Amino acid sequence: MSDTLDPSGKTVVVTGAASGIGRELARQLAAQGAMLVITDINADGLKAVADELEAKGVSVWAPVVDMTDFVAVDAFAEKVIKVAGDTLAFVFANAGIHGITPAIDPDLALFDTVLKVNLMGPVHMSKAFVPRLMARGGPAQLVITGSQASFLAAPGIAPYVAAKHAVWGFADSLRIELLLAQSQVGVSVVAPSRVDTSITRGRTEEYRAQGGDKAVEDYLASMVGPDKIAEVIIREAKKREFWIIPSHESTLEAFKARADAIIAAMPAGGIPFERAGA
Ligand SMILES: NC(=O)c1ccc[n+]([C@@H]2O[C@H](COP(=O)([O-])OP(=O)(O)OC[C@H]3O[C@@H](n4cnc5c(N)ncnc54)[C@H](O)[C@@H]3O)[C@@H](O)[C@H]2O)c1
Repeated sequence: MSDTLDPSGKTVVVTGAASGIGRELARQLAAQGAMLVITDINADGLKAVADELEAKGVSVWAPVVDMTDFVAVDAFAEKVIKVAGDTLAFVFANAGIHGITPAIDPDLALFDTVLKVNLMGPVHMSKAFVPRLMARGGPAQLVITGSQASFLAAPGIAPYVAAKHAVWGFADSLRIELLLAQSQVGVSVVAPSRVDTSITRGRTEEYRAQGGDKAVEDYLASMVGPDKIAEVIIREAKKREFWIIPSHESTLEAFKARADAIIAAMPAGGIPFERAGA
């Protein structure tokens, strides 16, 4: 597999491109000379981004595609591969939603929706694009947006944490299979924390409703602009890194504590049981 991949003169796909991190990915990839295929379910927001890029002379195709609908995602991928051919270099499976409901008594309909968008969305994109890219041959990178919630839990957002943990597991399974297949197709998983987008703004409103003013202010103060996060994602995706973790210092500390707790729970020398039949 090639060590690096450049978007310049290549086609890139970005899902969830109507706002936030996806919109910044589209803007920055366009500025680096890429041809853009951008999608979202928000038709108006998507059109605004497409118009903005076209006004700068960028080649853009912007169909509305719902990531939860595999038939639509599959038809979309078929068309992209057919039209873009060898130029298709990056696929950013970025679309996502929040899911605010407690683990103690979750809203099951919301749980289902969050799993459909945040887990099955990237799975749909992978199933639609990866086999086609492998059959096409040549290098390409699928970049899946997870979250710091892919390896850390938080209260009140159980479906989000469950979906993001699962999507990390999916991406890592895909990484191993692609490696075993000696494929030119690679996968990255992105785990940002606290980015200033509509997802986090919505959550802070929830905090406010709970009267958590200090927590809200701390949270808002620690947020990073989506432009900064997109910069890191693109830089690392070009290096074809699996882990892309644009996160805060506190994330590192919390992850170390979790890893230490898991390691401490593993008995040295393995489980002290005798083998069956021994
Ligand atoms: N904002 C953060 O702090 C943060 C942190 C970690 C991970 N993320 C992840 O980053 C990704 C982008 O989120 P964002 O923060 O830019 O939020 P955002 O709300 O600004 O953007 C998400 C986009 O996804 C689109 N979308 C939602 N459901 C869709 C569907 N079914 N099909 C197609 N498009 C759909 C939305 O319309 C929206 O334009 C998400 O996967 C999110 O979970 C965000």
